[in-house]
Amino acid sequence: MRANEWVVYPGSFDPITNGHVDIIQRSLHVFPGVIIAILENPEKAPLFTLKERREMIDHLFGHHPRVRVETFHGLLVDFVRRVGARVIVRGLRAMTDFEYEFQMALMNRRLCPEVETVFLMAAEPYSYVSSRLIKEVFRYGGNIRGLVPEIVEQYLVRKRAEGRI
Ligand code: PNS
Repeated sequence: MRANEWVVYPGSFDPITNGHVDIIQRSLHVFPGVIIAILENPEKAPLFTLKERREMIDHLFGHHPRVRVETFHGLLVDFVRRVGARVIVRGLRAMTDFEYEFQMALMNRRLCPEVETVFLMAAEPYSYVSSRLIKEVFRYGGNIRGLVPEIVEQYLVRKRAEGRI
């Protein structure tokens, strides 16, 4: 791993939360640039289409000189190799994340030993925030202000107007 290389921050981002935004900002403090890699995951039946997930992230980071927004399908390590990166960044919120992240990091290492996974701790106020909970709380009318960027709230409101959530 070289400290002067751009890193890949992968995820489903269905939708992006302020916890994700926090990890991206932290990554930018440590690394020269971040490639946000949105997984096209039809088997997970995402609420937002790939295009919508990308639009929200583009709105937030599309003009940032040190951020690139990409989509991928298939294996993450293949994407990482394709873009010439060697570091994957993942956020850790709590111990409950650890087992899943540990498995993924070690499987990715087995698949591609030259790629390293680096974990950054999410800021405490976001330690309980997940895309899944955001959707659930919003669906039942709970207040999600401050937990997602405003653009995400707008997209959620639109989904509700379309009767999709
Ligand atoms: O935001 P998420 O859903 O926790 O992100 C999970 C993600 C996208 C990082 C993971 O599902 C992934 O890398 N998927 C691509 C397929 C792959 O490479 N699987 C093997 C990883 S061990």
